Order: sequence, then structure tokens, then C-alpha cells
Amino acid sequence: MGTACDDPIGIFDSGLGGLSVVQAIRRRLPAEQLLYVADCAYAPYGGRPTAFIRARALALAGFLQTQRAKALVVACNTATAAAAEALRRQLELPIIAMEPAVKLAAAATRCNVVGVLATEGTLASARFAGLLARFAGAVRVVTRPAPDLVLLVERGEIDGIEVMRRVQAHVSHLLRQGSDTIVLGCTHYPHLRPLIERAAGPEVAIIDTGPAVARELRRRLEEKGLARSSAGGGTIRIWTSAAVDSARAVSQRLIGSGHDALVIDALPNLPMLQSDAWMQATGR
Ligand code: DGL
Repeated sequence: MGTACDDPIGIFDSGLGGLSVVQAIRRRLPAEQLLYVADCAYAPYGGRPTAFIRARALALAGFLQTQRAKALVVACNTATAAAAEALRRQLELPIIAMEPAVKLAAAATRCNVVGVLATEGTLASARFAGLLARFAGAVRVVTRPAPDLVLLVERGEIDGIEVMRRVQAHVSHLLRQGSDTIVLGCTHYPHLRPLIERAAGPEVAIIDTGPAVARELRRRLEEKGLARSSAGGGTIRIWTSAAVDSARAVSQRLIGSGHDALVIDALPNLPMLQSDAWMQATGR
């Protein structure tokens, strides 16, 4: 059977943070059926070896293909850096991946200093070095890994004094170096955007790649005649590789309780290319 407009869109991230991308897609493509895999058992990906992330990404994408995904969105900058090329080599379907919006930020900055918040994995990647080489030009790019913010979002902690204190520490670092534009280079951070904006102040532009990814996804679907055309009625179905109950509570916290019918299931054990012993040694 061929691909049909009614087939779903597959999306994945290391955990629930990538729901920020799901929200952006939902706004732009309200009729689509969205399948989201949160690899919570292995989150965060940020400090993990590239080969491990690549193996997980291929396994999650394979699972989404078995669910008839007509397109794949890598809702994770870290997995894009580690696995986008491997995914494109191995899968036939349209793949939309995400990376920190250095190009946009370099065009937006007025004082020629841009701050990028991202994971260690993204910042250390050859892909990120390539982005800087291509798009930074004369703009100075200041980077700041913020793994603690990923953990907070994974626990659904997106407000409160302690969370604000941690956000402030990262944002102040970027401001002290002169940034007037901050790139949210990890899909977990948009959940903290109100706090990041408060810490940065009104003069600083905050850039999130989620809406651009949703636009690009729509363009690719329309180009292939694969967009679902109806007035709305799209659904969100989630699988998690960790506990279902806590994923449900955190999801509702992150994307609101307006999704009563949010279906969350346990992700089945996925075949990995590497042996379990290798996974144990490098991944856990
Ligand atoms: N949300 C992910 C990203 O955009 C990864 C966070 C993590 O698992 O470290 O990079």
C-alpha cells in the first residue's frame, strides 16, 4: 500500500521536551495525525556518545515507519547532529530535522553577538561547527550548554523560584558576553520561554526553531501531495520508553490539559543495531 494523506507524521525526541515541536506542528497543521515517541528511558541524549544516539534514532524512526509515518520530524537538535545523515541514508520518507537557528540569529543581532543555548552534544558536533562556518560570518557566537534545564523540563518543572534561578544563571552568562539574541538550540527550552524572556529582558530576541520546522514540514507535505486536508480534528498519540503514568502527567503539564484524549502507550522494546552489551557499556 502506498503513502496516503491520512497517514500520520512521525516525530521523536530524547524525551518529552520535543512536544514543543509537536505544538508548533499542531498550530500549522491542525488536521494531521501526530505520532510522537519520547525516548524518556534514555533522556537526556545531550552527554551521550554519538553512536548511541544514532542507534536509538534509527530504531525510533524504524518504529515510526511501522506505524505508517508519511514523514519524519527529528524534534531534537542533538539527534539531528548525531543521526540526520544516517536517517536520510536509510529511510525513503521526507525527513525534517532541526538545528540551532544560527543563520536567523546572525541576521537578527544588532550588536553582532548571538548566544546559543543547547546540549553539550549539539555544541560539540561537526554539524554545529559547520553551521557556524557557513552562517556566523562576522557575528560572535557565544555558547552555553544547559543540561540541567533539560532535566527540569523532563520532570515537568517549568516554573517556580528554583527553575527561574537556574534559567537566570544560563541567560546571565550569555548577556554578560554581550548577546542581544538568544537561540533556543534544544527543543526542551521553549517550555521555559516565559522564564527565559523574563531573565533576558525585552531588548533581547529569543529564537525558537519549532515554527520554522512546522512551516518546512507543511511545505514538504504539500510538495508531495501528502498534506491532510480537513478543517481540523488532528490527534496526538505518544509512546514513551519509560513509565506511562509520569509521561502522561508531564505531557499535560507541558502542552496543557486541553488534550483529554491524549493517548500514551509504552514503547515496545526496539531491535538495535548494536548488541545489548554494547548498549549497556556505552549508553546507561
Ligand atoms: N531536546 C533535545 C535537543 O533538542 C535533547 C535534550 C537532551 O536529551 O539532552 O537537543
